[in-house]
Amino acid sequence: MRILLDKFSKSFGSTKVIEDMNLEVASGEMLALLGPSGCGKSTTLFAVCGIHRPTSGRILFGDRDVTNLPSQERNVGVVFQSYALYPHMTVEENIGFPLMVKRAAAPDIKKQVAAIAALVHIDNLLDRRPSQLSGGQQQRVALARALIRRPDVLLLDEPLANLDAKLRLEMRSEIRRLQRETGITAILVTHDQVEAMSMCDRIAIMKSGEIVQIATPSAMYNDPRTSFVAGFLGNPPISFIKGTAFQGAFVSGDGHLKVPLAALSGISDDTPLTLGVRPEHFGTGGDIAVEGRIVFAETQGRENLYDVALPDGSVLRSIQPVRNDIKPGDQVRWMLGSDAAFIFAENGQRL
Ligand SMILES: Nc1ncnc2c1ncn2[C@@H]1O[C@H](COP(=O)(O)OP(=O)(O)OP(=O)(O)O)[C@@H](O)[C@H]1O
Ligand SMILES: [Mg+2]
Repeated sequence: MRILLDKFSKSFGSTKVIEDMNLEVASGEMLALLGPSGCGKSTTLFAVCGIHRPTSGRILFGDRDVTNLPSQERNVGVVFQSYALYPHMTVEENIGFPLMVKRAAAPDIKKQVAAIAALVHIDNLLDRRPSQLSGGQQQRVALARALIRRPDVLLLDEPLANLDAKLRLEMRSEIRRLQRETGITAILVTHDQVEAMSMCDRIAIMKSGEIVQIATPSAMYNDPRTSFVAGFLGNPPISFIKGTAFQGAFVSGDGHLKVPLAALSGISDDTPLTLGVRPEHFGTGGDIAVEGRIVFAETQGRENLYDVALPDGSVLRSIQPVRNDIKPGDQVRWMLGSDAAFIFAENGQRL
């Protein structure tokens, strides 16, 4: 079921949170709404879900205008960060609850609960109460409860935020598997870029109530339109260095680093610029030599992070296979790949 937001706006009193947002989620697609805290992700999701009424604009499911329909009439499945399971009910009763409300026949409910519980791999836990489950198991119950009515759309607001790192990893692929198997259209709200990149077909990055870029995870990573987007994706994050244009090259503050870039042909000298270099593009490979001093080294198991301070004080981060010949304080001369570097104007737009 396609979801369409057409000039969707939402204010709380005089506070405008979202203004004229247009967004289309294709049928069967899983889309991430990604952005910093307070940018309006949940507000958007709540409007799709029917908890918030838009201040203006329309929301369509397929060709059906659902803007003024209450949540119960939209056929949406919703999972929030707090799973909100009913503590006094068993897992079976929790999952079957939406069907009970619809007054389905008991044997029918039992059959459907069994099927959906098998789908999320909790069919052996049906007699337990929520307090007797791990966080991940509770999360699966919440998912099963959201899916049992065969909703047209699945809406997830930070569903993994309460899980530990290992469970989060497991549930990430589990939710994606379920979404693919059921072919349901889904929106995932998250501020975790790894979650958005690994789970979704496309990502919409939001900032202050606006979608600033919408693209597939790899297009977003390799072709960010702004420094905000480039800085939001990537772990460890991209490094930024301030400088100016000079004869088709980026030149760092003290003139120490000079990077010729095709994007700068036609840009006037002394135009303020920011160079963005991802950590995988600074180290042993590349065409531009950079001299600096190691100011930070961290082992991440298979790889090491190194922060290299340039003479003007700016810092470039590098990620490389673990090597034992480098320690903080060492002077290094490493290579930067200029064809992978991004260049941004002062307003953050990529050139
Ligand atoms: N009921 C409300 N009344 C007034 N302001 C609200 C209300 N709900 C949200 N806001 C404001 O709208 C803005 C967006 O909130 P929203 O909850 O959508 O952010 P978010 O992107 O989901 O953030 P987070 O990642 O922290 O959950 C915030 O500035 C918030 O204070
Ligand atoms: Mg939120």
